[in-house]
Amino acid sequence: MKNVILGVSGGIAAYKAADLASRLVKRAIGVDVIMTEAAIRFVGTATFRALTGRPVRVDVFDEEGEITHVELAQRADLFLVAPATANTIAKLAHGLADNLLTTVALAVDCPRLVAPAMNSRMYADPAVQANIATLRDRGYQILGPAAGRLACGEEGPGRMLEAAEIEDLVMNLLEASDGLKGVEVLVTAGPTREHLDPVRFLSNASSGKMGYALAREAARRGASVTLISGPTHLRPPYGVSFQRVTTTEEMFHAVMKRFSASRVVIKAAAPADFRCGETRREKIKKQGKELSLTLVPNPDILLELGRRKRPGQILVGFAAETGGVEEKARKKLRRKQLDMIVANDVSGPENPFGADTNTVTIITSDGRVESLPSMSKDEVARHIIDRVEGLLRSR
Ligand code: PMT
Repeated sequence: MKNVILGVSGGIAAYKAADLASRLVKRAIGVDVIMTEAAIRFVGTATFRALTGRPVRVDVFDEEGEITHVELAQRADLFLVAPATANTIAKLAHGLADNLLTTVALAVDCPRLVAPAMNSRMYADPAVQANIATLRDRGYQILGPAAGRLACGEEGPGRMLEAAEIEDLVMNLLEASDGLKGVEVLVTAGPTREHLDPVRFLSNASSGKMGYALAREAARRGASVTLISGPTHLRPPYGVSFQRVTTTEEMFHAVMKRFSASRVVIKAAAPADFRCGETRREKIKKQGKELSLTLVPNPDILLELGRRKRPGQILVGFAAETGGVEEKARKKLRRKQLDMIVANDVSGPENPFGADTNTVTIITSDGRVESLPSMSKDEVARHIIDRVEGLLRSR
């Protein structure tokens, strides 16, 4: 089991640290929480003890019956302070060891991260900026802060990153492999929307989960990832360059712009194959009679990528089919000149559109076929990216 020391210093964002602790525990990470005296005025130790199942430390001298703070430091795979106040950042920058958190910070031998959280004018103060620069020079990774509305009512930089964003980053560091280091990977995800009028559109039930999982997994392995996504409710994975599009034509142009710089393209999106011949500027009124729509074909992005592909580029498509899935996928693989296709059956009881799981068959251009059992989309992504790594090695 990997262990993370989560240092919590005294700011209103301490409540987000509770969410973060819970998320890491769900990912099977052991979380040792160390709080400052000021932090326990915002969130009680009992909350973190319940969430992590481990004792929560505040005092250097309170170690009876527990592992010592030196042992705690030794077993840590990652040391993270979130939220990090201006005061704690200053202590860390100057090597002070006047509480358990700052003492342990000096004793750990693992990556160290801080997620600052404070008022934007405090954050802009030269002393704080100099302390952050010192930490960065000493190898600390600084996470954020984000800009937005702060607890004090002001707007500006100083918000602690969201727990889900820090979770991504921590998992990237803990599970990092460098199998795709330096590789430019382009992923598309989600549905597209083709408007009939300002309020109505044609679309499908793709949620983007599959594509976002692929982008996250590729980033975790060191790739430089661009995610082009249709409208979804998902948060883009941290560290991934992100572009949102609405229509298939917009996706086409966004993909083509990035294609020559990409070594790997994975097309998990479900772009609409048709759009309306005419998009009305005004809302179409009900007239109590039939309404006929003329649909015109959209560009087939993947087909065009296959045509433009250079030697060395790897093209991965998906096939959403009903009946004769494997055979139809194989045909698509050949016609679109793909290196790999991931076939999913959308007729069965486990329709992958919007679901958390998927049952796929992976077919590669050398004729190899692998049918995987039902699994989470995160796991499917791991399998696909494993195959992509294999293809890159064989080139
Ligand atoms: O988003 P989720 O809810 O997680 O669901 C995932 C998924 C079911 C959408 C995904 O696994 C999937 O199957 N994506 C492809 C859906 C699709 O459009 O299939 P298709 O067989 O119609 O298209 C074949 C390939 O051509 C796909 O890679 C698609 O991205 C691409 N395509 C399709 C149409 C088009 N105009 N341009 C394209 O590039």
